[in-house]
Amino acid sequence: MKRDFSRRSVETELMDAVDVDYATFRDCLRDLAKVNVVTLGHRPTLAFLEALRRKGRFKRGGAVRIVDVGSGYGDLLRAVDRWAARRGLDVQLTGVDLNPWSAQAAREATRPGRPIEWITSDVFEHAGRADVIVSSLFTHHLDDAHVVRFLRWTEDRAELGWFVNDLHRHPLPHAVFGPLAAAFRWHRFVRHDGPVSIARAFVPNDWRGLLQAAETPGSIHWRFPFRLCVSRIKPK
Ligand SMILES: C[S@@+](CC[C@H](N)C(=O)[O-])C[C@H]1O[C@@H](n2cnc3c(N)ncnc32)[C@H](O)[C@@H]1O
Repeated sequence: MKRDFSRRSVETELMDAVDVDYATFRDCLRDLAKVNVVTLGHRPTLAFLEALRRKGRFKRGGAVRIVDVGSGYGDLLRAVDRWAARRGLDVQLTGVDLNPWSAQAAREATRPGRPIEWITSDVFEHAGRADVIVSSLFTHHLDDAHVVRFLRWTEDRAELGWFVNDLHRHPLPHAVFGPLAAAFRWHRFVRHDGPVSIARAFVPNDWRGLLQAAETPGSIHWRFPFRLCVSRIKPK
C-alpha cells in the first residue's frame, strides 16, 4: 500500500505500548541511542546550545539548567554533559520521561557523580523551570493538540530558549530506514517504530501552523539528514 505523506500518520509505535517489560524497553532505547549516533541526531541540539554559549547567554552565575523532555536512554544529556565539561561550563541536567523504564535505563547507563537527574513524569505534570528546554524524537509521539500544548509549556518554562529536534516526514528517509535498521540489526521495536516515527513526524508547514496555534514564536530548521528542528532564543 502506498503511504500518504501529506498528513501526519496516527499509526502507533510499539514502544508506546503500556505492557512492555523492562529489558525489552531498555534494549529498544539502547538501539535508539545507536540510531542517534548513526544519524547524527544530537548534532543540531548541541549546535543550538553552543550558539547560546557563544552569544554569552550562559553568563548568569550558577549552573545552567537544561531539561530534556522524553529523555529515553539519556544519551542526549550525557552528550550535553560531555560538551559542557569540555567548555568548563557548570550544568544541572534533568531528563523527564513518562515511562519509568527510561529513568532506570538512563540511570544505569550514566556514570555516578554526573550532574544529571532522571525524573519519571508526564511532561505536562512536571512543574520545574529551566534555562533551556530541549527534546529529541519526542514531539512526534504527541497529537497536534498536545504539540501545541507542549510548545506553550516549553515557552512558559524556558528562561533563555528551547529546541525541538524531530524528524522530517518524507518518503526518502522512510524508504531508507528499513534497510539501514536491518543492516545494523537494530531492535525489532526500532525497525517497526522508525518508519512509523517518520510518518508521524512533521513538514515545515505543520510547524508553522502549530507555532501559530500555540501563539509562540519559533524558527524552523532542516538539519542533515532529515531532522526538522524548531528553536527559540528569547530576547535578553
Ligand atoms: C522515541 S523516544 C526518544 C528518546 C530520546 N529522546 C531519543 O532521542 O532517543 C520518546 C520518549 O518520549 C517519552 N514520552 C512520550 N510521551 C511523553 C510525555 N507525555 N511526557 C514525557 N515523556 C514522554 C517516551 O516514554 C519515550 O521514552
